[in-house]
Amino acid sequence: SRAGTLTAQASRFQVLAGADTEVWHYAAEHEGRRLANPLLRARRGEAIDLQLHNRLTEVTTVHWHGLALDEANDGSGLHPLPAGAHQRIRYTVRDRAGLYWYHAHPHHRTGRQLQMGLAGLLMVEDEEELALRERLGLAWGERDLPLMLADKQVDAGNAITYKDCADDWIGNRMLVNWTPEPYLDVVPGLYRFRIANVCNARMLRPAFVHDGQPLPMQLLGVDGGLLAQPWPMDDLFLAPAQRVDVLVDFGGIAAGEHVMLRSLDYAAMENEDESGAFAGDPIADHPGAVPMGGALDIMQLRVQAGDGVPLHRAFDALPARLAELPALPDTAGWPVRDLRLRMDSEGRWFINDWNFNDTGHEPVFSVRRGSREIWELRNAMTSMPHPIHLHGFPFRVLSRAISPPDVRGRAVAEGGRGPQDMGYCDTVVVWPGEVVRIAIDFSQPFTGTQRYMLHCHNLEHEDMGMMLTFAVT
Ligand code: C2O
Ligand code: CU
Ligand code: CU
Repeated sequence: SRAGTLTAQASRFQVLAGADTEVWHYAAEHEGRRLANPLLRARRGEAIDLQLHNRLTEVTTVHWHGLALDEANDGSGLHPLPAGAHQRIRYTVRDRAGLYWYHAHPHHRTGRQLQMGLAGLLMVEDEEELALRERLGLAWGERDLPLMLADKQVDAGNAITYKDCADDWIGNRMLVNWTPEPYLDVVPGLYRFRIANVCNARMLRPAFVHDGQPLPMQLLGVDGGLLAQPWPMDDLFLAPAQRVDVLVDFGGIAAGEHVMLRSLDYAAMENEDESGAFAGDPIADHPGAVPMGGALDIMQLRVQAGDGVPLHRAFDALPARLAELPALPDTAGWPVRDLRLRMDSEGRWFINDWNFNDTGHEPVFSVRRGSREIWELRNAMTSMPHPIHLHGFPFRVLSRAISPPDVRGRAVAEGGRGPQDMGYCDTVVVWPGEVVRIAIDFSQPFTGTQRYMLHCHNLEHEDMGMMLTFAVT
């Protein structure tokens, strides 16, 4: 089993040139080294045993985003840890290999605490993943790299700023693994990137651009690990909380040339309200920030000369079959639960008639353990794209309907599903007007009543109540 301590605390770090920045983070110690927001690694089946200390001056939690845990260890806002207190966290990692993450989740404070930095990555590994790694021959940490993308709104004194009850907290600095203006020296060969969008609210559209053209990528995995087969893509949509596992080939690019990992522009579809009644002023609150949907450079890749070893291993090195992914279940006869995403006339976000600030922690419905359901997520036309996240149960996307053209155009399978819909997900984007059906299997090895959350992972929407609690009994 893996044992250790995570301490939520505030520290000052040299993040940006000039003055130190106050960062809230999970501190850990490993082999005598002090680490902030460490990248955690676990084997599937491994037992985790952690102490969480809260040395902040307010409540916090650590939520294991994407893992199928019991309520007590899930770390949602149902069990906030008071300032000064500590708590033991014990669970077994049962999930498929993939890139998961951990972050704070106290209701009303999640947006602030993530903007201040309380988030890190968790890499789960299993035999299948290690076999693929072996086959690709890309060394973890060299040619196989995690990229945690987070935008921060930073003022002239290098302080991270945040305003409670703001709308869409987008930032003027894009950090990759906490590095500003990041670049990576790459050899002209194949690279594997595990990319996580840890922004509060900014949806990204990543592409690797060379000479003004996106380099072809192969999508290997999503939130819940490997897909059955790789899918070629030029760019993808990565909403807050989502992760992708992609392969890019820099082979054939001359030494000295650059590739830019860029978020391409897209139609943000922020059609939430014809009257324009916004909770915050997106321009005044975010000086210097690229508006939502605007093109944004993320990281530069500087191609170096190869060192003589044959590096150009094109995508045909990829196995046709990546993983044993269960087929999409036959959902005939499964009950359908309707969940409508909408805003009321006062600008509050709702799921059906529920806003978490009214319903509180009380479950608004319950589901039988072991049952299977289709949840139909239906977004209003006057709305925004909402990345909807389910705790406790990885799900499969069954279908998309009434999708915007740029989503429809990505379909590769029946039901309008795109490549990113082809695996296990924990967060799914529902665009304005769209109807997305997901299949959920509520089997789990726990007993008694376990409560979980469903919410928008735009953290400002979540904190303003676009969240609900449901029970599994
Ligand atoms: Cu990543 Cu309920 O959260
Ligand atoms: Cu979660
Ligand atoms: Cu939302």
